[in-house]
Amino acid sequence: MSKDQWLPRPPVEGTSQPPMELRPQATRFKAMALDRALWRVGVVGYGRLGQSLVSHLLTWGLKLGLELVFVRNRDPGQTAGSVPPYPQLQNLTDLGEKHPDLVVEVAHPKIICETGAQILRHADLLVGSPSALADQATEQQLLEASRRWNHAVFMARGTLWGSEDITKLDAAGGLQSLRVTIATHPDGFRLEGPLAAVQGSVPRTVLYEGTVRGLCPLTPRNSNTMAAAALAAPSLGFDRVIGVLVADLSLTDMHVVDVELSGPLGPTGRSFTVHTHRGNPAEPGAVTGSATVTAFRRSLLGCCQLPPRPGIHLC
Ligand SMILES: NC(=O)c1ccc[n+]([C@@H]2O[C@H](COP(=O)([O-])OP(=O)(O)OC[C@H]3O[C@@H](n4cnc5c(N)ncnc54)[C@H](O)[C@@H]3O)[C@@H](O)[C@H]2O)c1
Repeated sequence: MSKDQWLPRPPVEGTSQPPMELRPQATRFKAMALDRALWRVGVVGYGRLGQSLVSHLLTWGLKLGLELVFVRNRDPGQTAGSVPPYPQLQNLTDLGEKHPDLVVEVAHPKIICETGAQILRHADLLVGSPSALADQATEQQLLEASRRWNHAVFMARGTLWGSEDITKLDAAGGLQSLRVTIATHPDGFRLEGPLAAVQGSVPRTVLYEGTVRGLCPLTPRNSNTMAAAALAAPSLGFDRVIGVLVADLSLTDMHVVDVELSGPLGPTGRSFTVHTHRGNPAEPGAVTGSATVTAFRRSLLGCCQLPPRPGIHLC
């Protein structure tokens, strides 16, 4: 059976069901297309997101047709005791030995810059750190490797609300501007270089306002939502989507994302506008909010249900 022939998944047997967000709707499993019982998934990174995904794969994977085949973490001590010994991967260069169908990156954008293209030689790739694509060389390498090895690059939409609507509007030529503002307590950011020095003691400080391409290298771990917006709106892209980063001392346990977009001026002299405001509860000091964890589980399931076509796709 060829890889792009799809079959509906048989009904789940047994009494217990995965949580609602993990229940596939008329899932077409790639594993079946490959005459395999299970779709093999490797996870790179074992922090907040990685631990959540691994835990779900271990609990619900078999019911969903997914098998955890490795966990790769920089600090193996973090995985000790919580992951059965067999799936651990000591060295990312050995991932081919595990024969993954999908590798999920939830570690750091530099993993994508350094090894994303090599991963695509062996498997589809779900990128949890899309800020890596602000680097044009990385984007080009991923595209070339994706086409060469016939594997898909999926970008986790993460905390970006309305990404599909943005993409549809963009494709229809209806997007003139897109601006994403992320605000939280300074402890919730992982700022590096010049931005770290900007933080002051005033209640609200705009740390950066400018292109997403300019912001990503300055704070790769806090610009993923903006990078996802740039990917959702290719007509604007990293050079025309505007990112704003705000340190707000009142937001001790909340990440706030505002997405503002507008279309071109219409015949009446007015334009179409949308403004969404998303408040995501977060542990004080955490870089990843609670709702983001759920969004990543959906992305994982979502990309396992999509056709494995080469190219870069938001998921
Ligand atoms: N797309 C989004 O909206 C979104 C939202 C939240 C987080 N993220 C990104 O997802 C990634 C993971 O987030 P998190 O909250 O789990 O972070 P985290 O800091 O809790 O965990 C990251 C884990 O990756 C490991 N790691 C870091 N560099 C590594 C390397 N070179 N090799 C192997 N492991 C390495 C760390 O040891 C840590 O265990 C980050 O890059 C973060 O910026 C994206």
